[in-house]
Amino acid sequence: MKRFLIFFCALVAFSATVAAAPVEDWQNPAVNERNREPMGATLANDSPRINLAGIWKFQWYETPGARALDFYKPGLNDAGWGEMPVPGMWELNGYGDPLYVNIPYAWDGHYQNNPPIVPEEHNYVGQYRRSFAIPADWAGRDIFLSIGSATSNLRVWVNGKEVGYSEDSKLEARFNITKYVTPGKETLIAMEIFRWCDGTYLECQDFWRYAGIARECYLEARPKARIVDMQVKAGMDGSFAITPSFTREASKLKSIRYFLSGPGYPEREVSVAGKVENPRLWSAETPNLYHLKAVCTDKKGVSETVKLDFGFREVRIAGGQLLVNGKPVLIKGADRHEMSATGGYVVTVDEMIEDIRIMKQLNINTVRTSHYPNDPRWLSLCDRYGLYVIDEANIESHGMGYGERTLAKNPAYAQMHMERVQRMAKRDVNHPSVIIWSMGNEAGNGPNFEATYDWLKNWDPTRPVQFEQAGLARNTDIFCPMYASYEHLVRYAESQPDRPLIQCEYAHAMGNSMGGFEDYMDLYRKYPSLQGGCIWDFVDQAVRWPSAKSRTGYIYAFGGDFNDYDPSDNSFNCNGIIAADRSWHPHAWEVRHGYRSILTSAKPEEALDGRVQVYNENFFIDLGRYLMRWEVIADGKPVLAGQLDAPKAAPQQTLTADLGFRAADLAGIPGELYLNVSYVLRRTDGLLPAGTEVANDQILLREMPYCLSAATLGGRRWEADFDPQTGALCSYRLNGKELLSAPLMPCFGRAVTENDLGARLERRMAAWLYPEFKVKELKRGDDGVEVVYAVGDGLATVSVQYALGDDGSIAVTERMSELRENAPELFRFGMEFAMPGSFNVLKFYGKGPFENYQDRQGAAQVGIWEQSVADQYHFGYVRPQESGTHVGMRWMRITDAAGAGFEISAPEKFSASALPFGRRDIDLSVTGGGRGKGGDQRHSLELREDGLTHVNVDLVQMGLGCENSWGALPRPQYRLKPEPRTFTFTLKPLL
Ligand code: GAL
Repeated sequence: MKRFLIFFCALVAFSATVAAAPVEDWQNPAVNERNREPMGATLANDSPRINLAGIWKFQWYETPGARALDFYKPGLNDAGWGEMPVPGMWELNGYGDPLYVNIPYAWDGHYQNNPPIVPEEHNYVGQYRRSFAIPADWAGRDIFLSIGSATSNLRVWVNGKEVGYSEDSKLEARFNITKYVTPGKETLIAMEIFRWCDGTYLECQDFWRYAGIARECYLEARPKARIVDMQVKAGMDGSFAITPSFTREASKLKSIRYFLSGPGYPEREVSVAGKVENPRLWSAETPNLYHLKAVCTDKKGVSETVKLDFGFREVRIAGGQLLVNGKPVLIKGADRHEMSATGGYVVTVDEMIEDIRIMKQLNINTVRTSHYPNDPRWLSLCDRYGLYVIDEANIESHGMGYGERTLAKNPAYAQMHMERVQRMAKRDVNHPSVIIWSMGNEAGNGPNFEATYDWLKNWDPTRPVQFEQAGLARNTDIFCPMYASYEHLVRYAESQPDRPLIQCEYAHAMGNSMGGFEDYMDLYRKYPSLQGGCIWDFVDQAVRWPSAKSRTGYIYAFGGDFNDYDPSDNSFNCNGIIAADRSWHPHAWEVRHGYRSILTSAKPEEALDGRVQVYNENFFIDLGRYLMRWEVIADGKPVLAGQLDAPKAAPQQTLTADLGFRAADLAGIPGELYLNVSYVLRRTDGLLPAGTEVANDQILLREMPYCLSAATLGGRRWEADFDPQTGALCSYRLNGKELLSAPLMPCFGRAVTENDLGARLERRMAAWLYPEFKVKELKRGDDGVEVVYAVGDGLATVSVQYALGDDGSIAVTERMSELRENAPELFRFGMEFAMPGSFNVLKFYGKGPFENYQDRQGAAQVGIWEQSVADQYHFGYVRPQESGTHVGMRWMRITDAAGAGFEISAPEKFSASALPFGRRDIDLSVTGGGRGKGGDQRHSLELREDGLTHVNVDLVQMGLGCENSWGALPRPQYRLKPEPRTFTFTLKPLL
């Protein structure tokens, strides 16, 4: 027995040594903070602060093992160290390369996931040092160090003493450093950050994986007797309850008085619970904020004033709908990463305001803070300017998959899940803009998220909780799928659901996209349970980077632009409604239009008589703040116009507006007639100045085909030549001047878009991209030519007939027949040619002014638009692709500065483009396209014009789609089945 006991003890001792091998905090999921202050609500105070922003001494190491262990010591000579701005990301300040990868962890390809252990190799370490003079009058106060956002973790020393540690990179870390500081003296702050730690396993978001410090960093000296935390609960009925908590010393305060003010409510003292009669409710449309001030007084007078803003509003789910203040608001949302093209995670307040201004211009009313809690200043701006916020916890473990290995099921990570959710909620609880908590993104579902759901519902019963990965399981109040298909949405809506469906991500805005966006809006407007969603996503993540090859001296770089070692998902981080420099992509207009809250419609007879129906889709405001402007255009030229007060439709009400003209007024006006209606702000509204147009619509009054007239060449000569081999029109000389640089040839391909690449159309529809055209028959006559081509390898037969008119016009008829049985769908059905680059003026009667496609033309309006060929390509697409098309064309003219050139017209509306690049030059399929590592790294800004004007004229081009960018096709009605088609158009010389 004794022997056995001894053996047993030895065993215990042995295993104790093994277990006692020191697990460092950065590898220990049970330790995510040390001495970090508990998270409380964001409160303003008037205590003194020192801003820590600026240049710090910085030392960077390749691995944790290489780092200096004594770097924090006061005596250390850091003269030879480098420098790093705070806030500032390492990779944007000379240390390491920016790395972008979507699903896997940043070490993908080099290290096997093994939570909680992260690789040693390339786990860079940054050490910071800087001294600050601490004012002598901070004596007797509590001094806090606050670091806004440190990725991936943070350890702090003050004056050589270790203070604390924190993880969860997207919430501020605060430390009480009072005992390490001597007021009146210099204080050395030393910080150490690892690129990766065990927490990184929960930070696998689809974004740039930067390291460093973002957001505000400061020291703060607060009285020892103070408010620690303060929450306000406020209901729609005006009742409010303030719950403060205090330091122990606060019992010595003489008084704590609360003062409340708000719109129409001059400041007055209140007690911790009370009621405001007829409160002005907060909503995104009416961002009425009330201001609470807690004034603490000690025997010397006011010791500190603490402030917060809140709103009276209510959010709940009832009848299968999400209700804000009792109304089933429509979520016109966007997902937004906190990302600057120059600063990375460092986003200035001005940049935040700019983002809100653009959201307001685009009629966006909701932002999901994908995929982590944002800078608290962002939430305050959302409160102030009116945006609903879906506040998301910093949890994404996508790289572990959703199956058995998901960290949602890993008990070792339970605490980390809980802490991240709790901290977010405790910090953001007072923001009226936060209407929904989101427990994270793409992390699988499991017990860890059931526990966080239960905690949230119990701690804050006033807000719904959502979690995409929960599907319809118990731990989500909202069904919030991502990229649900149109059919899925309808099926759900028709199943009498008891939970609203709000897509957490939809309409993937990658590259030239957003085709079919209006169709989503139609469904959201039709079915009460479909309450909208958030577009993925607001802004391209591209980073501005120098490039000698670029036309501007820089490019917008994406994944893979920096080295071959790191994993990369190429341009997949550029899915924005707007570009990284905040300029609008053409599809931003479609968003603005689809999300408008004033919709105009009319029956034809009604509209001809100057009457239209105006629907106010807002839920809380009437249309009193808008002027209504209208204009009738005849063949694109304004003939009548007027302005009136927008009808004062109440929320959700439709009223008739009488514009004052009658059918008789139009009777004598020839041509095609459209009525353009637009709504503009009378006065400044938040960030939008007076005169801002918030909605418009165009209504067809009378359709009229284009009346083609004979060319007037004034006796000057024209000559056309056809290539004896290919039968193509290859030369057209007008008064001796050549108009053609490349012959007129059938065209069925397009420079692939990002969505095309995602659906592998460069392979599936490859046959149409650059097929061989073999002449089967060529007939030449005095008044024309007919050529018949065998396309590709038995793909189809195409004939092109040219009929020469006496005036120099050429009527072209293109016919496709004999399609191979298994022929793929077509990108387009049309023809292409090129003109010398001196033909650089484009004028057309069709949809504009921005580019548009058959499934993305809601915002574009029919009109006469004059533009330059140089401007037709949208350089904002980070990678080259199809661009510059306009649909609804009656005619298009491409001329030189003197007005000589071609007019193209057709009996049916057609689509066309004229670009300074050839199709191959902007077609990623030519090099295999490719995303991910080894994908095509070309950049639009590095494109070089070839000196020609490249023209495409189409009967129709396939739509763009937007359901997703990884397989979905445009909807069937926007695709081109392989079937016989005929396209007729006329080329008319202009002089
Ligand atoms: C979602 C994800 C986003 C982004 C998007 C594709 O699955 O939540 O972060 O990756 O797909 O761009």
